[in-house]
Amino acid sequence: MSGSDRVYPQAAGCGTSRLTLPEFVCLHGRASSLVLEAAPGEPPLWRYWGPRLPDGVVPASGIRNERPLPSFALDHDQPFSVFPVVGGSWFHHSGLLAHRAGQDWSHAFTVSRIDRPDAYSIAVVLQDERAGIEVVVLLHLNPETDCLTTSNQVTNTGEGILDVQWLAAAVLPLPDDPLKVHFWGGRHPNEFIPQVQSLTRAAWRRENRRGLTSHDTMPTAFVEAQDNHWYAAHFAWSGNSVQQIEWLDDGRRAWQVGEWLAPGEVRLAPGESITTPEVIATFSNTGRNGITQNFHTEMRQRIRWPGGKMSPRPVQVNSWEGFYFDHDVDRMKELATAAAALGIERFVLDDGWFHGRNDDTTSLGDWWPDETKYPEGLFPLAEHVTGLGMQFGLWVEPEMVNPDSDLARAHPDWIRSSRDRPVVTGRNQLVLDLANHEVTEYLFDKLSALLTQLPISYLKWDHNRDLAPDGLVPTYRNQVRSVYGLLARLRAAFPDVEIESCAGGGGRIDAGILPYVHRFWASDNIDAVSRVQIQRGFLSVFPPEVMGAHVGAAPAHTTSRSQSMAFRAGVALCGHLGVELDLRRLTDKAREALAEWIALHKSIRDRLHSGEVWMGEAPDGLLWQAHGTATDILLFVIRTNQTEQRYPPAIRLPMLDRIESFQIRPLGPAPWVKGSPAFRLADQEGLKVSGAWLAQSGMPAPALRAEQVALIELTSVR
Ligand code: GLA
Repeated sequence: MSGSDRVYPQAAGCGTSRLTLPEFVCLHGRASSLVLEAAPGEPPLWRYWGPRLPDGVVPASGIRNERPLPSFALDHDQPFSVFPVVGGSWFHHSGLLAHRAGQDWSHAFTVSRIDRPDAYSIAVVLQDERAGIEVVVLLHLNPETDCLTTSNQVTNTGEGILDVQWLAAAVLPLPDDPLKVHFWGGRHPNEFIPQVQSLTRAAWRRENRRGLTSHDTMPTAFVEAQDNHWYAAHFAWSGNSVQQIEWLDDGRRAWQVGEWLAPGEVRLAPGESITTPEVIATFSNTGRNGITQNFHTEMRQRIRWPGGKMSPRPVQVNSWEGFYFDHDVDRMKELATAAAALGIERFVLDDGWFHGRNDDTTSLGDWWPDETKYPEGLFPLAEHVTGLGMQFGLWVEPEMVNPDSDLARAHPDWIRSSRDRPVVTGRNQLVLDLANHEVTEYLFDKLSALLTQLPISYLKWDHNRDLAPDGLVPTYRNQVRSVYGLLARLRAAFPDVEIESCAGGGGRIDAGILPYVHRFWASDNIDAVSRVQIQRGFLSVFPPEVMGAHVGAAPAHTTSRSQSMAFRAGVALCGHLGVELDLRRLTDKAREALAEWIALHKSIRDRLHSGEVWMGEAPDGLLWQAHGTATDILLFVIRTNQTEQRYPPAIRLPMLDRIESFQIRPLGPAPWVKGSPAFRLADQEGLKVSGAWLAQSGMPAPALRAEQVALIELTSVR
C-alpha cells in the first residue's frame, strides 16, 4: 500500500515537520501475518507478527506517529527493525557486531532495495557505505505451513578485513504480553528435558559451544503469549548457536537466533560474504500443538526422500545393545534370521564391524571389515540379510578417528588438533579436519567403496563427541559446512541410500542436517519411561516418521529399569520403529508379543506417519498423544507413574470434529485396556460417542497402572 504523498502530523522530537505515510509490507500465511513498515531509506520496522490479518489491513500510520518520544531519549526515535544495529539510537542488542581493525564498529544502514520475489518473500538490501558493509535480510513465509524462514547475509564492501563477531540469522518481534519461554535442556543419554521460564526484563539467553547441535542446548524455543498464542523458532544448523530474547523499551521483545562465533571465526576479506544458516519460526493461535503441526508440515517439505516420496518406514533391528562390539558373522546371521521371522524389514549392523574395532579405544577411520570377525568381508552377511527380504544397513562415524588407527598413524595432519594445545580426546577419539579436501576425499572414497561393493540401503551416521577448541584458528562452522557437503555428495552419488543422523543418540537433531537424512536417533536411552519425555520433546518439532524409536531389552541398559514388552513396544510404536536387543534370547512368549506389536505397527504406520500430532495431559499424571486427523485418530494414553486418584480422569480431545460421532476401539495386545469397563463395551458392541462430547467432556480413560500405555482408535461414523 502506498501513501507517500500523504502528510502526517509530526511525532514529537522526530526532527522533521512533514512525515510521509510509510509503505507497509505484509506477508500472509494461512493463520498468521507479518507486517513491516518500510519507512523511506531505513531498514523496515517490525510492526506485527500474529494471527492472520484480513487482506489490506495495515497500521493507521507510521510507528513514530503513534508513540511519543520519552524523556531522556535521543531525539531520533529508532524503533525495532528487521536488522537493528549498534549505532544511532538503538541501545538494545545488535543484529551485527563487526569491526575493521577496531574501526567501523557502529553502523547506520540505509535501504538500497526491497525486492518482493513473490507474495510470500521479501529481500531487503541494506548498505552502510561509510563502514563498507552490505546486508541482505531474507524473509519467506511459507503459506502452507505458516513457517517463516529467515537468514541474513553480510558482504564486506570496504577495504581491509571485516571481523564479524555476531550476525543474527533472525531478529524476530515478540509481543508485549507477559511471556513464558519453553525450551529443552538435556545430556547424553537423557535429551529433551523440558524447561520453562517467565520472561522478564532480564534477557533469556542460551549458548551452545559444543560444535554440534548438542544434547544440552536444543536450538529451539517456544514462547507462550496470552490467548493461547504461541511463537517458536528453530535454528536449522548442526553447530554452535545462540538464542536470545531481550526486553525492549516499548515492552516488546527481540528474539535473536544465530551461530555462536568464536573470536576470529569469521573474518571477511574485501568482497567476501557470509550467509547465516536459516531460522525457521512460526506462530500459532491454536496453542502449542499448532506450533508442532506447523513445524511438522514444514519439516516434511524439507525431507528429501529417495524417489521423492516416503516409503513406509521399514521396521529395523539394530545390533548395538544386543551385541555391542562382540560381532561374529554367524551370530549376526542368526540375529537377521530371528528378525526376519518377526516381520522386521531392515537389519542395521552397528559399531564393531570394522578393522580392529573390539572396543571404543581403536580403529575409527579404518573403514573396512574386520578380518577376524568377517573373514570374507561383509558380503556374506549382507547377502544373507537381503536374501531374507530385509534391507541391509551399516553404522559409520566418518568424522572421527582414534589415535590408535591406521588412519591416524598415516595422516596425523588430518586431525583437528594443534601443536600449541593439549590434545583432548572424547570417547578416546579425535575429530578429522573436514575442511581439508584430502580428508573428505578419503571419506568419500571409503564410504563409496562400501556402498558400491555391498547392497547397503542405509547408513547410520554417528558423531560421538563434542568438538573442542583444538587449534589456534577457530573452524567450527567450516566443519559443519564440510559435513553437509560430504553428505550432499554421497546423497547425489547414492540417491537410494537412506541416512540416519546420530550423535551419541540425540546430539545432532536439527533442520540443518534434515535435508540429508531420513531418521534421527533420538537418544541412546531406550528405557520407555525416559523415552516418553524424550519423544515428546522430539515430536514438538520433528514428525514421527523421522524419529528412531526402539524396543530395547529389560532391564534397560541405560537406566536398569525393567518394563513389560507391551510398555516398551507401545511407547516405541509411534515413531520409526526398531528393535535393539538380542532377539535370539527372547522367550517364546516375548517373541510372540513382539511379533504382534510389529504387525500392528505395520498395519497403522501410514496413519501414524502422515497426519497431524497432538500432545496433551489429562489430570492425575496421564499423558496422551494423538496422530491423525479430526475424523480419524490413533490415540496413545500413557501412564508412567502410579495414579493418585481412585478413578481415571476423562481425556478431552479438542481436535475431534464436533459434528461427527466416533467409534472407539482399543488396538493392540494390551490386556489392561480391554479390562476397563468402557472398553469392554467397545470391544463387544462398539462404543459410539459424539465428537462434541469427546472434545468438551472427554473420553473415559482406561484404568492404567504405572508404566502402561493404551492405544485407542477413534474413527468417525455417521
Ligand atoms: C553411539 C550411538 C549408539 C551406538 C554407539 C556405537 O553411542 O548413539 O546407538 O551406535 O554409538 O558406538
